[in-house]
Amino acid sequence: MTLITKDIDTAVKELLSGNVVGLPTETVYGLGANALNDKAVLKIYETKERPVFNPVIVHVYDTEDLGKYAVNIPDEVFKLAEMFSPGPLTFVLKKRNNIPDIVSAGNDSIGLRIPSHPVFRKVLKETKLPVAAPSANRAGRISPTSAEDVMSELKDRINYILDGGKCQIGIESTIISFTGDHPKILRHGFVTKEEIEKVIGKTKEEYSGKISSPGQLKSHYAPKTPIRCEDDLVKEDILNKKIGFLDFGMYSDYKEIALNLFSDLRKMDELKYEIIIWRRLKNEGLGIAINDRLNRASYAMSNEQ
Ligand code: TXA
Ligand code: MG
Repeated sequence: MTLITKDIDTAVKELLSGNVVGLPTETVYGLGANALNDKAVLKIYETKERPVFNPVIVHVYDTEDLGKYAVNIPDEVFKLAEMFSPGPLTFVLKKRNNIPDIVSAGNDSIGLRIPSHPVFRKVLKETKLPVAAPSANRAGRISPTSAEDVMSELKDRINYILDGGKCQIGIESTIISFTGDHPKILRHGFVTKEEIEKVIGKTKEEYSGKISSPGQLKSHYAPKTPIRCEDDLVKEDILNKKIGFLDFGMYSDYKEIALNLFSDLRKMDELKYEIIIWRRLKNEGLGIAINDRLNRASYAMSNEQ
């Protein structure tokens, strides 16, 4: 049985005893485990049915902790951390050997993030552990932004979900890698490329959707209902179908769209449409991350999994 709890000590105990637990972050809910315990991290992969070639992000309490799990950290990381951490930015760095291979899926890098959610921060402080936590959805599905969403994804697969309310950001962290000779954005997220470049100058992008690169699976964030961008529709997609439009008209800006994106997708998925149609946002600022999530959600359909 899976229980939703507000008791932080319960989550702390679960982590210390090598179990996985649903945890609130400011971006989306995570499925956490002790990052130093390879058996605990394996449970994350099993619970999510996540492919083992896809590494997981590790959450730490503050900037000083980065050096405990990563080496050769360039100055740009500290500049960015000063600006955006705690918060929705993940640094991919060269990992130290104290991090088990399963965390990084055999790569010699590690994704580190300092989350700002006060409940998650208490968990980090009390456990004194680095906490590995990918989003708490089953692999390929919509990321959860409330404890109830985690329940609908992982019911009976985990003991506890720590309830920290609805996520205040609603879309995942931006991932930037410093393992090559140039900073590279691996996943667009809440912190935009423009904001990052104001601090460290030009970045490169590696966001081709090649299935071989971790973090870049083409098909992801997918509802059960087929979903497609209006620009890509063909007649057969909509002929005699019950159509649902993903409508962002009531939201005043892209932040508000990001905040509601996954929960709206989940709600629409319950409404038994035969196809969900969405309209592409301007590909700038946070629009890039939102379009990206919806493109990936649509990919499964256009390529008949
Ligand atoms: O906002 C977030 O980042 C949320 C919350 C829970 O922190 N986490 C999250 O984790 O979105 P996940 O696992 O759903 O997505 C993390 C992505 C994965 O696609 C993974 O491939 C990539 O980060 N990643 C993790 N470690 C990496 C590494 N060492 N090198 C390259 N990519 C990495
Ligand atoms: Mg995810």
